[in-house]
Amino acid sequence: MRLPGLIDPHVHMREPGATYKEDWASGTAAAVAGGFTQILAMPNTEPPVVDGASLAHTVSLAEAKAHCDFAQFLGATAENVHQTADCADQSAGLKLYLDQTYGPLRLESLDLWKAHFLAWPKDRPLVAHAEGRSMAAAILMAALTDRPLHLAHVATREEILLVRAAKEKGLKVTCEVTPHHLFLTSADLPGGRGEVRPRLGSDEDVRALWENLAVIDCFATDHAPHTAAEKDCPDPPPGFPGLETALPLFLTAVSEGRLTLEDVVLRMSDNVRKIFKIPTQPDTWIEVDLDAKREITAEGLYSKAGWTPFEGWQTRGCVQQVVLRGETVFQHGKVLAQPGFGNRIR
Ligand code: DOR
Ligand code: ZN
Repeated sequence: MRLPGLIDPHVHMREPGATYKEDWASGTAAAVAGGFTQILAMPNTEPPVVDGASLAHTVSLAEAKAHCDFAQFLGATAENVHQTADCADQSAGLKLYLDQTYGPLRLESLDLWKAHFLAWPKDRPLVAHAEGRSMAAAILMAALTDRPLHLAHVATREEILLVRAAKEKGLKVTCEVTPHHLFLTSADLPGGRGEVRPRLGSDEDVRALWENLAVIDCFATDHAPHTAAEKDCPDPPPGFPGLETALPLFLTAVSEGRLTLEDVVLRMSDNVRKIFKIPTQPDTWIEVDLDAKREITAEGLYSKAGWTPFEGWQTRGCVQQVVLRGETVFQHGKVLAQPGFGNRIR
């Protein structure tokens, strides 16, 4: 079965700064192996991507190594309110960290939030990591400044109901949900391996996300690789690898009748393209085998993380082939594209 190339709007590469966790080559190889032909990378690298110089540096690293097409987000800081707009056309969008996360980017004051909401061009993607009450405040700020806002990784019942209410009011909000918040609860992964932001929810949270599928615009992996050794330390960093397991999990849900293929294509391609204004890729598609039975295991994954929160899960449906701009870049379980084959999207 042929599907369009998938787009992941929320991926953490670790280059520059922590290439032992992931670099542009390993991360985009994982993307291609997962059926993604375009990815949008988050700015919480070391150093973070916050201005024209850091954006140009990161993009040059990506251009040398990427196996799939990509764009890079800028991160909002207390200092860069009046500079980000200059780079709007070269970036995936502006990311606002309004709650605790991995890395130094965090915007505390409402004044700063508002300044960024006003300064960032209305026709360029603005994405917020905003949980619970912060999400309510971010939606209000979007309404007050009359601009679109995309909410990253909606994870709880109260959050998805909030997004639903905002949409019913006609506010210009869109949202994404991760596979881990749809398929796991906090009871599934105790200890360091289960650390992730937003935290895994309860059965009730997971049920509410599935019941409100119509409110979910995109599925985004929030691929956030940390090594198994780091996850097993006393102070584990939050985050899960997810690029290579997302589509098999969603195709399994299709085989169980919990989703349709159209649901998947809408949320992993069409809607993402629209919301993030991503150009189409000519001669690009993926071939999936809807019947293939596999077991998820960290062995053989391209990500350097070296573990997966879905270890041992039985799946139905896998990626057989990925064709990007006319070239077969993945087949028989192997990434065939050369590093640098990936183009910048903007
Ligand atoms: O769990 C997370 N990990 N949540 C985030 O917001 C950041 C991410 C990371 O970069 O590791
Ligand atoms: Zn993230």
